[in-house]
Amino acid sequence: MHSGKRQGDARTAGVRSTAVSTSNERRLCPVPDIGRARRQPCPGRPRRPPTMARRTPSGPDPDRPNIGGRGQVVEEGMPSLEAAEITAGRLHLRPWRPYDADAVHRLCQDPQIQRWTRLPSPYEHAHAEDFATRQAPLSWVQGTGAPFAVVDATTEELLASVELMHITAQGEAEIGYWCAAHCRGQGVASQAVAAVCRWGFGTLGLSRIEWRAAVGNVASLRVARKTGFVLEGTLRQALVVGGGRRVDCWVGSRLPADPTPPGRPPHRSG
Ligand SMILES: CC(C)(COP(=O)(O)OP(=O)(O)OC[C@H]1O[C@@H](n2cnc3c(N)ncnc32)[C@H](O)[C@@H]1OP(=O)(O)O)[C@@H](O)C(=O)NCCC(=O)NCCS
Repeated sequence: MHSGKRQGDARTAGVRSTAVSTSNERRLCPVPDIGRARRQPCPGRPRRPPTMARRTPSGPDPDRPNIGGRGQVVEEGMPSLEAAEITAGRLHLRPWRPYDADAVHRLCQDPQIQRWTRLPSPYEHAHAEDFATRQAPLSWVQGTGAPFAVVDATTEELLASVELMHITAQGEAEIGYWCAAHCRGQGVASQAVAAVCRWGFGTLGLSRIEWRAAVGNVASLRVARKTGFVLEGTLRQALVVGGGRRVDCWVGSRLPADPTPPGRPPHRSG
């Protein structure tokens, strides 16, 4: 689930290409309680009215690979997001935990994930560890992202990653995702993406969720279409995937009023 605009898919995969300034890291507040999903001010961080929110370019983080896309920007004064959990049929979506690092590392060795997302390649264990222990919690705290681990609700096996990222004070976000190779084609990604979109529009009050994928990533396009995204066009050389390959990308979006296309239930048991 590394994806974004920026870093779309790559970011969700467990690694963000976004660099966060150390000055912002210093303002870290404790990871919020799980269970509720509303914005709350982060103590120690001045809260700005949305109209005054501004995006401030941050300097590169030497500890974090720049996987491409646009440079990381941090929205100053964004209230923290209270980390949430979502149950969707057989799937359970929850914030990432440090112990997920091993599974993220293992699953992200998959060639398709490395080909289509902005993951670094080779994808080292340290990348997964940094994602699970630092980047993912930081997104919630900074209010700029909502990265979910998608697990089997019964066995708790890690199946996929779905993330809302680049959340702005104006109500925009981008979605990114990946699914473990052994459980593809069962509707896991579609069901998880649909659930996160519902949560993003309903709980966060987002106005627009954007989707980006490298041209040719038909599986991702299929997921986007099944979950109500409307393809808007192609951006030239706008995405860096496969560990450094700059490519054209499809861009689409979903608005709150867009219907979810009818069809079979998104999750089929394998
Ligand atoms: C894209 C991805 C997340 C889809 O996960 P998934 O759980 O298999 O998705 P779903 O089962 O919900 O839906 C996949 C759909 O794509 C279809 N599909 C898969 N591969 C396809 C291909 N090569 N050509 C056309 N359709 C394809 C499946 O048949 C399915 O459609 P259906 O439900 O109508 O049968 C997964 O393939 C993946 O992790 N890919 C690598 C990482 C990636 O590309 N991430 C997205 C970056 S933008």
